[in-house]
Amino acid sequence: MKVTVVGAGAVGASCAEYIAIKDFASEVVILDIKEGYAEGKAMDLMQTASLNGFDTKITGTTNDYSKTAGSDIAVITSGIPRKPGMTREELIGINAGIVKTVATNLIEHSPNVILIVVSNPMDTMTYLAHKVTGLPKNKIIGMGGALDSARFKYRLAEALEAPISDIDGMVIGGHSDTGMVPLASHATRNSIKVSEFIDADRLQQVIEDTKVGGATLTKLLGTSAWYAPGAAVSALVQAIACDQKKMFPCSTMLDGEYGLSDICIGVPVILGKNGIEKIVDVPLSEAEKAKMKESAEGVSKTNGLLDV
Ligand code: LAC
Repeated sequence: MKVTVVGAGAVGASCAEYIAIKDFASEVVILDIKEGYAEGKAMDLMQTASLNGFDTKITGTTNDYSKTAGSDIAVITSGIPRKPGMTREELIGINAGIVKTVATNLIEHSPNVILIVVSNPMDTMTYLAHKVTGLPKNKIIGMGGALDSARFKYRLAEALEAPISDIDGMVIGGHSDTGMVPLASHATRNSIKVSEFIDADRLQQVIEDTKVGGATLTKLLGTSAWYAPGAAVSALVQAIACDQKKMFPCSTMLDGEYGLSDICIGVPVILGKNGIEKIVDVPLSEAEKAKMKESAEGVSKTNGLLDV
């Protein structure tokens, strides 16, 4: 199993590290345009191998896509991250050009690759990856919902004063401050609805805190987060590499599901060796349906800014 991670920044490096630590991939190639940077990150990570107990071989390359040839999975993290006060949508001008070039180069050397898109605005970059590569729908996955759901579970655990392992919950919709749809009515603590443990106001606070999860961290860190995004990507990569058939909310091209078409947006999917093996249609409340529709309108508006 060969995995390429494009972008040796904080998210890319974190993602490579988590993949290596889980020790399911034989090879991880990190590619970056900055001279020597990916090579340096790869060497540093390799020097953790004997300490962390993994055999995954990590190498780095400065923009040489021939080194990525034959990748089974490729993760696109390249582009600029947001600064405090910025929305993810504001990154489109720079990141669209970068993602277009990266996706084209990856496909040229790995025509059968499964792509995981992380760059922001993520749903629109996932849509762009479809337009430029022409890969089948199951082979392009946008990472957002898995991260937003992890943040939702963190906030729920905090509100319920419960261990995170007791909590289950999902966030669907667009990966944006206004577009996320945390499915509070479906969230549970050991199969009991979370609304049995906290009142409606506290639950609403959890929803609001989840939606601005990335923005809160960007304000604290001065740039966007990397541990949870890296961990979320590694979970998706593992589900595909190990054919786990696990369910995650991911941005995927819809063709009528959830009443939406020609849009990539977060919905629950089953991930296995073929990438997205199934889109799961969850029954939504009227309020959740309305929020999903509004979220899709926001994503479509951003897609309209693309030159494709
Ligand atoms: C975040 C970025 C990765 O939400 O979109 O942290």
